[in-house]
Amino acid sequence: MSLAIAVKNFDPDAWVERMQKVLPNRSVEAWETAAQSAESVRYLLAWKAPEEALNAFPNVEVIFSLGAGVDHLLGSAKLPDVPIVRIVDKNLTMRMTEWVTLQVLLHHRDQLTYSHQQAQANWKSHSQPAASDIRVGILGLGELGADAAKALAGLGFKVAGWSRSAKHVDGIDSYHGADQLDAFLARTDILVNLLPFTPATEGLVDYAFLSKLAKDGKGGAPVYVNAGRGGTQVEGDLVKALKDGTLKGASIDVFAVEPLDSQSELWALPNCIVTPHVAAESEPDALSRYVADQIAEYEAGRPLKNVVNRSAGY
Ligand code: NDP
Ligand code: OXD
Repeated sequence: MSLAIAVKNFDPDAWVERMQKVLPNRSVEAWETAAQSAESVRYLLAWKAPEEALNAFPNVEVIFSLGAGVDHLLGSAKLPDVPIVRIVDKNLTMRMTEWVTLQVLLHHRDQLTYSHQQAQANWKSHSQPAASDIRVGILGLGELGADAAKALAGLGFKVAGWSRSAKHVDGIDSYHGADQLDAFLARTDILVNLLPFTPATEGLVDYAFLSKLAKDGKGGAPVYVNAGRGGTQVEGDLVKALKDGTLKGASIDVFAVEPLDSQSELWALPNCIVTPHVAAESEPDALSRYVADQIAEYEAGRPLKNVVNRSAGY
Protein backbone atom coordinates (compact mmCIF):
# COMPACT_ATOMS: atom_id res chain seq x y z
CA MET A 1 0.00 0.00 0.00
CA SER A 2 1.14 3.53 -0.32
CA LEU A 3 0.40 6.95 1.08
CA ALA A 4 0.53 10.04 -1.12
CA ILE A 5 1.09 13.48 0.33
CA ALA A 6 -0.36 16.66 -1.18
CA VAL A 7 0.18 19.59 1.16
CA LYS A 8 0.38 23.30 0.43
CA ASN A 9 1.86 25.78 2.95
CA PHE A 10 3.75 22.88 4.56
CA ASP A 11 7.03 21.38 3.35
CA PRO A 12 5.98 18.22 1.41
CA ASP A 13 9.45 16.63 1.73
CA ALA A 14 9.41 17.04 5.50
CA TRP A 15 5.98 15.40 5.56
CA VAL A 16 7.14 12.49 3.39
CA GLU A 17 10.06 11.93 5.77
CA ARG A 18 7.87 12.28 8.86
CA MET A 19 5.20 9.88 7.60
CA GLN A 20 7.83 7.39 6.39
CA LYS A 21 9.18 7.23 9.95
CA VAL A 22 5.81 6.20 11.36
CA LEU A 23 4.98 3.92 8.40
CA PRO A 24 8.42 2.32 7.91
CA ASN A 25 7.36 -0.62 5.72
CA ARG A 26 5.26 1.29 3.27
CA SER A 27 5.77 3.53 0.34
CA VAL A 28 5.25 7.21 1.21
CA GLU A 29 5.64 9.75 -1.58
CA ALA A 30 4.74 13.25 -2.65
CA TRP A 31 1.60 13.04 -4.77
CA GLU A 32 3.33 13.94 -8.04
CA THR A 33 5.72 10.96 -7.66
CA ALA A 34 3.04 8.65 -6.27
CA ALA A 35 0.85 9.45 -9.30
CA GLN A 36 3.30 7.49 -11.48
CA SER A 37 1.97 4.30 -9.84
CA ALA A 38 -1.41 5.75 -8.97
CA GLU A 39 -3.24 2.39 -8.60
CA SER A 40 -1.20 1.43 -5.55
CA VAL A 41 -2.14 4.51 -3.50
CA ARG A 42 -4.69 3.72 -0.76
CA TYR A 43 -4.36 6.83 1.40
CA LEU A 44 -3.97 10.53 0.70
CA LEU A 45 -2.80 13.10 3.26
CA ALA A 46 -3.95 16.51 2.05
CA TRP A 47 -3.92 20.20 2.95
CA LYS A 48 -5.13 22.64 0.30
CA ALA A 49 -4.16 20.04 -2.31
CA PRO A 50 -4.48 20.91 -5.99
CA GLU A 51 -7.59 19.46 -7.69
CA GLU A 52 -5.42 17.11 -9.81
CA ALA A 53 -4.04 15.52 -6.65
CA LEU A 54 -7.50 14.80 -5.30
CA ASN A 55 -8.58 12.69 -8.25
CA ALA A 56 -5.19 11.24 -9.24
CA PHE A 57 -5.63 8.00 -7.28
CA PRO A 58 -8.40 5.64 -8.47
CA ASN A 59 -8.06 3.24 -5.51
CA VAL A 60 -7.77 5.76 -2.70
CA GLU A 61 -9.69 4.51 0.36
CA VAL A 62 -9.29 7.30 2.92
CA ILE A 63 -8.33 10.97 2.69
CA PHE A 64 -6.72 12.50 5.78
CA SER A 65 -7.03 16.26 6.22
CA LEU A 66 -3.86 17.68 7.70
CA GLY A 67 -5.99 19.98 9.84
CA ALA A 68 -9.19 20.11 11.83
CA GLY A 69 -11.02 22.04 9.12
CA VAL A 70 -12.02 20.34 5.88
CA ASP A 71 -13.34 23.28 3.86
CA HIS A 72 -10.10 23.05 1.85
CA LEU A 73 -11.31 19.64 0.57
CA LEU A 74 -15.08 19.88 0.46
CA GLY A 75 -15.10 22.76 -2.00
CA SER A 76 -13.60 20.53 -4.69
CA ALA A 77 -15.80 18.94 -7.34
CA LYS A 78 -13.06 16.34 -7.88
CA LEU A 79 -13.09 15.00 -4.34
CA PRO A 80 -13.47 11.18 -4.43
CA ASP A 81 -16.40 9.70 -2.52
CA VAL A 82 -14.34 8.11 0.26
CA PRO A 83 -14.20 8.80 4.02
CA ILE A 84 -12.43 11.99 5.03
CA VAL A 85 -10.72 11.92 8.41
CA ARG A 86 -9.92 15.24 10.07
CA ILE A 87 -7.48 16.06 12.85
CA VAL A 88 -8.72 15.92 16.40
CA ASP A 89 -5.67 16.16 18.58
CA LYS A 90 -5.09 17.14 22.22
CA ASN A 91 -2.08 19.23 21.30
CA LEU A 92 -4.03 21.23 18.69
CA THR A 93 -7.00 21.63 21.04
CA MET A 94 -4.77 22.87 23.85
CA ARG A 95 -3.15 25.46 21.58
CA MET A 96 -6.53 26.74 20.44
CA THR A 97 -7.72 27.01 24.03
CA GLU A 98 -4.56 28.98 24.86
CA TRP A 99 -5.19 31.42 21.99
CA VAL A 100 -8.88 31.89 22.77
CA THR A 101 -8.22 32.36 26.49
CA LEU A 102 -5.42 34.81 25.76
CA GLN A 103 -7.63 36.93 23.50
CA VAL A 104 -10.62 36.89 25.82
CA LEU A 105 -8.43 37.96 28.73
CA LEU A 106 -6.67 40.67 26.69
CA HIS A 107 -10.02 42.29 25.94
CA HIS A 108 -11.52 41.60 29.35
CA ARG A 109 -8.51 43.23 31.07
CA ASP A 110 -8.44 46.16 28.59
CA GLN A 111 -4.90 45.39 27.49
CA LEU A 112 -5.24 47.32 24.20
CA THR A 113 -6.01 50.49 26.15
CA TYR A 114 -3.08 49.94 28.50
CA SER A 115 -0.72 49.24 25.59
CA HIS A 116 -1.76 52.52 23.93
CA GLN A 117 -1.33 54.32 27.24
CA GLN A 118 2.10 52.78 27.72
CA ALA A 119 3.19 54.18 24.35
CA GLN A 120 2.39 57.64 25.76
CA ALA A 121 3.82 57.00 29.26
CA ASN A 122 0.28 57.53 30.54
CA TRP A 123 -0.36 56.09 34.04
CA LYS A 124 -4.14 55.76 34.28
CA SER A 125 -6.35 52.99 35.65
CA HIS A 126 -9.80 51.96 34.45
CA SER A 127 -12.55 50.15 36.32
CA GLN A 128 -12.41 46.39 35.87
CA PRO A 129 -15.44 44.06 35.98
CA ALA A 130 -15.02 40.57 37.43
CA ALA A 131 -14.89 37.63 35.03
CA SER A 132 -18.06 36.35 36.69
CA ASP A 133 -19.85 39.48 35.38
CA ILE A 134 -18.87 38.78 31.78
CA ARG A 135 -20.82 36.48 29.46
CA VAL A 136 -18.77 34.65 26.87
CA GLY A 137 -20.60 32.99 23.99
CA ILE A 138 -18.90 30.40 21.81
CA LEU A 139 -20.17 29.82 18.28
CA GLY A 140 -19.45 26.13 17.66
CA LEU A 141 -19.35 23.94 20.74
CA GLY A 142 -17.40 21.10 19.11
CA GLU A 143 -13.97 19.70 19.96
CA LEU A 144 -12.33 23.12 20.14
CA GLY A 145 -15.27 25.18 21.35
CA ALA A 146 -16.07 22.84 24.24
CA ASP A 147 -12.49 22.81 25.49
CA ALA A 148 -12.16 26.60 25.31
CA ALA A 149 -15.56 26.93 27.01
CA LYS A 150 -14.41 24.79 29.96
CA ALA A 151 -11.17 26.76 30.35
CA LEU A 152 -13.04 30.09 30.32
CA ALA A 153 -15.65 28.82 32.77
CA GLY A 154 -12.74 27.73 34.98
CA LEU A 155 -11.59 31.37 35.03
CA GLY A 156 -15.04 32.41 36.24
CA PHE A 157 -16.67 33.68 33.02
CA LYS A 158 -20.33 32.85 32.40
CA VAL A 159 -20.06 30.68 29.31
CA ALA A 160 -22.62 29.51 26.76
CA GLY A 161 -22.20 27.77 23.42
CA TRP A 162 -24.22 27.69 20.23
CA SER A 163 -24.18 24.64 17.98
CA ARG A 164 -26.41 22.77 15.53
CA SER A 165 -27.48 20.19 18.09
CA ALA A 166 -28.04 20.59 21.84
CA LYS A 167 -24.93 19.93 24.00
CA HIS A 168 -24.38 18.87 27.57
CA VAL A 169 -21.10 20.33 28.80
CA ASP A 170 -20.75 20.77 32.58
CA GLY A 171 -21.11 24.42 33.59
CA ILE A 172 -21.82 25.63 30.03
CA ASP A 173 -25.25 26.78 28.81
CA SER A 174 -26.22 25.25 25.49
CA TYR A 175 -28.12 27.04 22.74
CA HIS A 176 -28.69 25.40 19.39
CA GLY A 177 -30.16 25.98 15.98
CA ALA A 178 -31.42 29.10 14.25
CA ASP A 179 -34.33 29.50 16.69
CA GLN A 180 -32.05 30.02 19.69
CA LEU A 181 -29.41 32.16 18.00
CA ASP A 182 -30.85 35.58 18.86
CA ALA A 183 -31.24 34.66 22.54
CA PHE A 184 -27.65 33.41 22.57
CA LEU A 185 -26.34 36.64 21.00
CA ALA A 186 -28.43 38.84 23.31
CA ARG A 187 -26.75 37.29 26.40
CA THR A 188 -23.18 37.49 24.96
CA ASP A 189 -20.55 40.14 25.82
CA ILE A 190 -17.56 38.37 24.29
CA LEU A 191 -18.34 36.29 21.20
CA VAL A 192 -15.85 33.59 20.21
CA ASN A 193 -16.27 32.10 16.73
CA LEU A 194 -15.03 28.52 16.36
CA LEU A 195 -17.38 27.49 13.57
CA PRO A 196 -16.31 25.53 10.51
CA PHE A 197 -16.77 27.11 7.09
CA THR A 198 -19.79 25.47 5.46
CA PRO A 199 -22.61 26.63 3.18
CA ALA A 200 -24.65 27.24 6.37
CA THR A 201 -22.00 29.35 8.14
CA GLU A 202 -20.70 31.34 5.15
CA GLY A 203 -21.04 35.07 5.87
CA LEU A 204 -23.05 34.37 9.03
CA VAL A 205 -21.32 37.03 11.14
CA ASP A 206 -22.36 40.25 9.44
CA TYR A 207 -23.28 43.69 10.79
CA ALA A 208 -26.85 42.69 11.71
CA PHE A 209 -25.51 39.65 13.55
CA LEU A 210 -22.96 41.69 15.53
CA SER A 211 -25.63 44.26 16.34
CA LYS A 212 -27.60 41.57 18.21
CA LEU A 213 -24.87 41.09 20.82
CA ALA A 214 -25.56 42.23 24.41
CA LYS A 215 -25.93 45.98 24.90
CA ASP A 216 -25.93 45.84 28.71
CA GLY A 217 -22.51 44.23 29.28
CA LYS A 218 -20.49 45.21 32.36
CA GLY A 219 -17.40 45.49 30.15
CA GLY A 220 -18.98 48.04 27.76
CA ALA A 221 -19.66 47.22 24.10
CA PRO A 222 -19.21 43.60 22.97
CA VAL A 223 -16.03 41.96 21.69
CA TYR A 224 -15.63 39.53 18.77
CA VAL A 225 -12.94 36.84 18.59
CA ASN A 226 -12.58 34.53 15.56
CA ALA A 227 -10.25 31.56 15.09
CA GLY A 228 -12.70 29.36 13.15
CA ARG A 229 -12.72 30.40 9.49
CA GLY A 230 -12.65 33.85 7.91
CA GLY A 231 -15.39 33.02 5.42
CA THR A 232 -17.93 32.88 8.26
CA GLN A 233 -17.62 36.65 8.79
CA VAL A 234 -18.22 39.63 6.50
CA GLU A 235 -14.97 41.55 6.80
CA GLY A 236 -16.34 44.94 5.71
CA ASP A 237 -19.11 44.66 8.30
CA LEU A 238 -16.58 43.81 10.96
CA VAL A 239 -14.57 46.94 10.11
CA LYS A 240 -17.75 49.03 10.27
CA ALA A 241 -18.74 47.55 13.65
CA LEU A 242 -15.26 48.20 15.06
CA LYS A 243 -15.31 51.79 13.83
CA ASP A 244 -18.81 52.77 14.94
CA GLY A 245 -18.62 51.25 18.42
CA THR A 246 -20.98 48.31 17.79
CA LEU A 247 -17.91 46.34 18.86
CA LYS A 248 -15.44 47.48 21.49
CA GLY A 249 -12.72 45.26 20.10
CA ALA A 250 -11.86 42.13 18.13
CA SER A 251 -9.18 39.48 17.75
CA ILE A 252 -9.07 37.82 14.35
CA ASP A 253 -6.87 34.90 13.34
CA VAL A 254 -8.67 33.81 10.17
CA PHE A 255 -9.70 35.71 7.04
CA ALA A 256 -11.69 34.93 3.90
CA VAL A 257 -8.52 35.53 1.88
CA GLU A 258 -5.19 34.67 3.50
CA PRO A 259 -2.72 36.22 3.85
CA LEU A 260 -4.80 39.24 4.82
CA ASP A 261 -4.40 41.96 2.19
CA SER A 262 -1.89 44.60 3.30
CA GLN A 263 -4.53 47.24 2.43
CA SER A 264 -7.12 45.77 4.81
CA GLU A 265 -8.29 48.30 7.37
CA LEU A 266 -8.22 45.59 10.03
CA TRP A 267 -4.40 45.84 10.27
CA ALA A 268 -4.47 49.39 11.55
CA LEU A 269 -7.63 49.58 13.64
CA PRO A 270 -6.50 50.34 17.21
CA ASN A 271 -9.19 48.06 18.69
CA CYS A 272 -8.40 45.02 16.53
CA ILE A 273 -5.79 42.32 17.12
CA VAL A 274 -4.74 40.43 13.98
CA THR A 275 -2.81 37.14 14.07
CA PRO A 276 -1.80 35.23 10.90
CA HIS A 277 -3.81 31.99 11.22
CA VAL A 278 -1.66 30.68 14.04
CA ALA A 279 -4.22 30.05 16.76
CA ALA A 280 -3.63 26.33 16.74
CA GLU A 281 -0.76 24.93 14.80
CA SER A 282 -0.19 21.37 15.88
CA GLU A 283 2.86 19.33 16.79
CA PRO A 284 3.76 17.64 13.44
CA ASP A 285 4.92 14.44 15.16
CA ALA A 286 1.60 14.16 17.01
CA LEU A 287 -0.23 14.48 13.69
CA SER A 288 1.88 11.89 11.86
CA ARG A 289 1.34 9.40 14.69
CA TYR A 290 -2.39 10.13 14.58
CA VAL A 291 -2.56 9.32 10.84
CA ALA A 292 -0.44 6.16 11.23
CA ASP A 293 -2.57 4.96 14.17
CA GLN A 294 -5.77 5.51 12.22
CA ILE A 295 -4.38 3.54 9.26
CA ALA A 296 -3.43 0.67 11.62
CA GLU A 297 -6.93 0.65 13.17
CA TYR A 298 -8.60 0.79 9.76
CA GLU A 299 -6.52 -2.09 8.43
CA ALA A 300 -7.35 -4.10 11.56
CA GLY A 301 -11.01 -3.71 10.59
CA ARG A 302 -11.90 -1.14 13.24
CA PRO A 303 -13.80 2.06 12.45
CA LEU A 304 -12.01 5.26 11.50
CA LYS A 305 -12.36 8.09 14.00
CA ASN A 306 -13.31 11.71 13.36
CA VAL A 307 -14.81 11.04 9.97
CA VAL A 308 -16.30 14.14 8.38
CA ASN A 309 -20.04 14.38 7.81
CA ARG A 310 -19.91 15.42 4.17
CA SER A 311 -23.51 16.55 3.93
CA ALA A 312 -23.13 18.82 7.00
CA GLY A 313 -19.80 20.08 5.59
CA TYR A 314 -17.63 19.51 8.67
P1 NDP B 1 -16.11 20.37 15.34
O1 NDP B 1 -16.67 19.75 14.12
O2 NDP B 1 -15.75 19.49 16.48
O3 NDP B 1 -17.12 21.47 15.90
C1 NDP B 1 -17.83 22.34 15.08
C2 NDP B 1 -18.94 22.97 15.91
O4 NDP B 1 -19.64 23.90 15.08
C3 NDP B 1 -19.97 21.94 16.38
O5 NDP B 1 -20.39 22.25 17.68
C4 NDP B 1 -21.13 22.13 15.40
O6 NDP B 1 -22.40 21.78 15.92
C5 NDP B 1 -21.03 23.62 15.15
N1 NDP B 1 -21.68 23.99 13.90
C6 NDP B 1 -21.34 23.64 12.64
N2 NDP B 1 -22.19 24.17 11.75
C7 NDP B 1 -23.10 24.86 12.47
C8 NDP B 1 -24.24 25.62 12.13
N3 NDP B 1 -24.64 25.76 10.86
N4 NDP B 1 -24.95 26.18 13.12
C9 NDP B 1 -24.58 26.03 14.42
N5 NDP B 1 -23.49 25.32 14.81
C10 NDP B 1 -22.78 24.75 13.84
O7 NDP B 1 -14.86 21.24 14.87
P2 NDP B 1 -13.61 21.71 15.73
O8 NDP B 1 -14.11 22.27 17.01
O9 NDP B 1 -12.59 20.64 15.79
O10 NDP B 1 -13.02 22.86 14.78
C11 NDP B 1 -13.79 23.99 14.46
C12 NDP B 1 -13.12 24.80 13.36
O11 NDP B 1 -11.98 25.46 13.86
C13 NDP B 1 -12.56 23.99 12.19
O12 NDP B 1 -13.58 23.63 11.29
C14 NDP B 1 -11.57 24.96 11.58
O13 NDP B 1 -12.21 25.73 10.61
C15 NDP B 1 -11.16 25.84 12.75
N6 NDP B 1 -9.75 25.68 13.11
C16 NDP B 1 -8.95 26.78 13.11
C17 NDP B 1 -7.63 26.69 13.48
C18 NDP B 1 -6.75 27.89 13.53
O14 NDP B 1 -5.53 27.75 13.74
N7 NDP B 1 -7.27 29.08 13.39
C19 NDP B 1 -7.06 25.41 13.89
C20 NDP B 1 -7.98 24.33 13.89
C21 NDP B 1 -9.29 24.47 13.51
P3 NDP B 1 -22.76 20.28 16.38
O15 NDP B 1 -21.90 20.03 17.62
O16 NDP B 1 -24.19 20.30 16.70
O17 NDP B 1 -22.36 19.38 15.24
C1 OXD C 1 -7.02 23.66 10.85
C2 OXD C 1 -6.32 24.94 10.76
O1 OXD C 1 -8.11 23.52 10.30
O2 OXD C 1 -5.13 25.01 11.14
O3 OXD C 1 -6.46 22.72 11.47
O4 OXD C 1 -6.91 25.93 10.34
